[in-house]
Amino acid sequence: MSIIINSIALQGLEAEKITVEADMLNELPNLVIVGLPDAAVQEAKERVKLAIRNSGFEFPRKRIIVNLAPADIRKEGPAFDLPIALAILVATNQINQEISDSIFIGELSLNGDLRSTAGVLPATIFAKNSGFKKIYIPAQNCHEATLVEGIDIYPIKNMSKLVGHLQKEKIIEPIDRKLLNNQFNITTQFEVDMSFVKGQEQAKRALEIAAAGGHNIIMSGPPGSGKTLLARTLPSIMPELTNEEILEVTKIYSVAGLLATETPIINTRPFRSPHHTSSGVALVGGGKYPKPGEITLAHRGILFLDEFPEFPRQVLENLRQPLEDGVISISRAQGTLTFPARFILVASQNPCPCGYSSDQEKNCTCTPSQIIKYQKKISGPILDRIDLHIEVPRLKMEKLTADEEEECSADIRQRVLQARERQAKRFKGTKILTNSEMRPQEIKSFCPLDENSMQLLKSATQKLNLSARSFHRIIKMSRTIADLNQEENIGSHHVAEAIQYRQKDS
Ligand SMILES: Nc1ncnc2c1ncn2[C@@H]1O[C@H](COP(=O)(O)OP(=O)(O)OP(=O)(O)O)[C@@H](O)[C@H]1O
Ligand SMILES: [Mg+2]
Repeated sequence: MSIIINSIALQGLEAEKITVEADMLNELPNLVIVGLPDAAVQEAKERVKLAIRNSGFEFPRKRIIVNLAPADIRKEGPAFDLPIALAILVATNQINQEISDSIFIGELSLNGDLRSTAGVLPATIFAKNSGFKKIYIPAQNCHEATLVEGIDIYPIKNMSKLVGHLQKEKIIEPIDRKLLNNQFNITTQFEVDMSFVKGQEQAKRALEIAAAGGHNIIMSGPPGSGKTLLARTLPSIMPELTNEEILEVTKIYSVAGLLATETPIINTRPFRSPHHTSSGVALVGGGKYPKPGEITLAHRGILFLDEFPEFPRQVLENLRQPLEDGVISISRAQGTLTFPARFILVASQNPCPCGYSSDQEKNCTCTPSQIIKYQKKISGPILDRIDLHIEVPRLKMEKLTADEEEECSADIRQRVLQARERQAKRFKGTKILTNSEMRPQEIKSFCPLDENSMQLLKSATQKLNLSARSFHRIIKMSRTIADLNQEENIGSHHVAEAIQYRQKDS
């Protein structure tokens, strides 16, 4: 009998249907898997064999051929264990019911239990969109699957229970979403509030602009001036993720296998702060079987690169394309994969190796050549992609100990939300969410400059030797500043403020 088992292969974040079938020959016992399987799928042989036996079924002493089709899609990872095992049980008539309306995914352990498997959310989205009525997944992953409506989700603990269900001996009920929904209403608590940060008004204003328009920011200052603290407040003034964004981001974490079993949903903006020893692959993604890197995990959120110059230069150079396009393309033997990577880059640095060259109270002990060498660690093209270049000076003692109350995150966030609303109206019907994502054509239609503003921008561009990219980025930032001020037209005061945040010495 040849019944086909449906499963799913992931190509980056997207899923594709795979069919699994098995047949037997009366030859020396052997299990052969064909159809471009990777090493992890090849290893499935041993797991499947033992899982079948240990679940009380018979593993035939024949030559078994398992075919994964279509043959031109590479099958990666252990999610095919379950469909392969089922195909063998079908071929040996140990399952004889109709199961072609279902999708099966899951890694098996040697005793036949199912293990948590990466990529269940995109698989479920795909299954639903392709018209499947049922999906069988490891019980550990059932919560993430329930984000998708309109498909019956069956949580499976082990193979013998699943076969009992398929053979209609002991039915497993699909998940009742009503029992789960409450788990997703998680209230967000932020690590640090803006009100914890004393003074540093300019940096706070810059962070507000960054949050409102999605602009990148770099903070420079002596040790202990509050750069890291300020960066950590950014999530608290950003708007909440929309439902669409929640699904988008959760899908990424599902593919990366980073969803928590208890709360398998990413409903707060990601804040990723990889260490400067991270490799290029860890940062941008890739590897033999490409996985999302930090920049993709930071999608729709913040990528915080603390101690920016400490990152190896070639690692930072990888950020060029994603900073421009909001996606990362990863080349591989079978064509290119793209992962989304639309994040706000927040970087922090000291101005020199000892950290005090910009400090008014403590003497810098670095030589001029050391300072130049340190500052050259970050390439011009990377700095050119950063809109807001901010000095964070040492905080004066009076400020630090003052009783004065600082503005809290909730109030700042309110202004950010209003600016975002204006942007949502502006970009309705397009894929753009924030001003920073505007391309030249949108800049042309949404950011007309009056004569004064244009004059100011032109002379600043010449005087500061700014690039064409900087020219456009200043206009985009001016748009955000006008949006924060609730003003329809960009004026020269908006442009002037935007210019002062650009890097001066290039
Ligand atoms: N503006 C501030 N308001 C309140 N506390 C501050 C402020 N600036 C610094 N601090 C205190 O100093 C600590 C260190 O600050 P932070 O780690 O942000 O410094 P940094 O600028 O990142 O220094 P480094 O360059 O050494 O990384 C904070 O955890 C906080 O306790
Ligand atoms: Mg720091």
